[in-house]
Amino acid sequence: MYHPLFLRALQKNKLETPPIWLMRQAGRYLPEYQLIRRRFKDFLDMCKHPEICAELVMQPIQRYDLDAAILFSDILTIPDAFDLGLKFYEGEGPVFERPINTVNDISSLCEFDEGKLSYVYRAVEITKENLSSTIPLIGFCGSPWTLVAYSIQGGSSKDFKKTKDFISMHPCEVKQLLEKITSACFLYLKEQVKSGIDAIQIFDSWADLLDVNQFNEFSLKFTKDLVRMLKDDDVTNHVPIILFEKAPPIEVAKIPFDGLACMSLHHSNSLNEAKNKLQDKFAIQGNLDPKVLTLTEKEITKETEMILDTMADYPGFIFNLGHGITPNIHPDKIQVMIDTIRNP
Ligand code: CP3
Repeated sequence: MYHPLFLRALQKNKLETPPIWLMRQAGRYLPEYQLIRRRFKDFLDMCKHPEICAELVMQPIQRYDLDAAILFSDILTIPDAFDLGLKFYEGEGPVFERPINTVNDISSLCEFDEGKLSYVYRAVEITKENLSSTIPLIGFCGSPWTLVAYSIQGGSSKDFKKTKDFISMHPCEVKQLLEKITSACFLYLKEQVKSGIDAIQIFDSWADLLDVNQFNEFSLKFTKDLVRMLKDDDVTNHVPIILFEKAPPIEVAKIPFDGLACMSLHHSNSLNEAKNKLQDKFAIQGNLDPKVLTLTEKEITKETEMILDTMADYPGFIFNLGHGITPNIHPDKIQVMIDTIRNP
């Protein structure tokens, strides 16, 4: 049976050409996405239509030669299931109508019911029916820390000041909240696995808000707990796990731990440094700066080739961006990058 390149790379195999997929590969930079998006007033409402999500997953797969697909959903489905009243306003990003404002809000938080997110599991099932068996499907969740950061802040923010003040004032209660969210992430991912996903990515998109001690205490500790739960469970233990850390405050090579298959690097982290320390222990995914895709073809080719050269002999390299594709990127530029990787 054909063993997909993406899964072989996650098993730390050295490959002639690295597998390719891109964070936010389905999204606003694609005109075909915009066409569907226009039919929904609210982004979250769109995420609650499984057939639509399954269709959106396929858009980049049909347009490009990619080695993995990613479930179409959002990391904020979990805080939404905790009844924080999630809304996505046009041009504003996510907003919670009932964020965590007090320690009381933590103790009185409802129980997590994974059944509330059945629309996500249905999207996985339909996507798997549509997707060729040669292309694995990645399921995902936010890291407990990143979900807590949004739940306290009440939406996106430049500095997350409310969150930072809250964790300094109420560290114990925040840890209780992190525990609740960690169990929720586990139950959610378990349902995604039962519905057919082939790999998991955990997005720690707000690692850069924390200093070294806080990062260990509030982020890494709970991501580790989550990975341990997944590895101790008979249903989920076979599924490889990728961890994405956005510009963490500690050296990226010091982060990976038992149970992880792969470390996904932000573009502010050096592949060169990471590869020497992670070789034969973890696969590496990354890390072209999405901004490069706004430059000329020549520059895109040059920057892509630099990454290929750096990682040429690495056993288990997956080509990706250092963070998600932004809406200002022209779809043709992605083709230039893919051509460079496929035909070096
Ligand atoms: O193709 C894919 O990667 C799959 C789909 C996906 C989305 N969000 C769709 C989306 C995935 C994996 C995510 C993860 C996600 N969501 C993260 C982690 C990754 C990262 O970027 O660090 C985060 C932090 C979120 C939270 C979130 N969702 C924000 C802050 C926003 C608004 C900001 C913005 O870019 O406008 C979203 C909205 C969102 N999620 C969109 C898409 C396609 C755009 C919504 C729209 O069409 O209006």
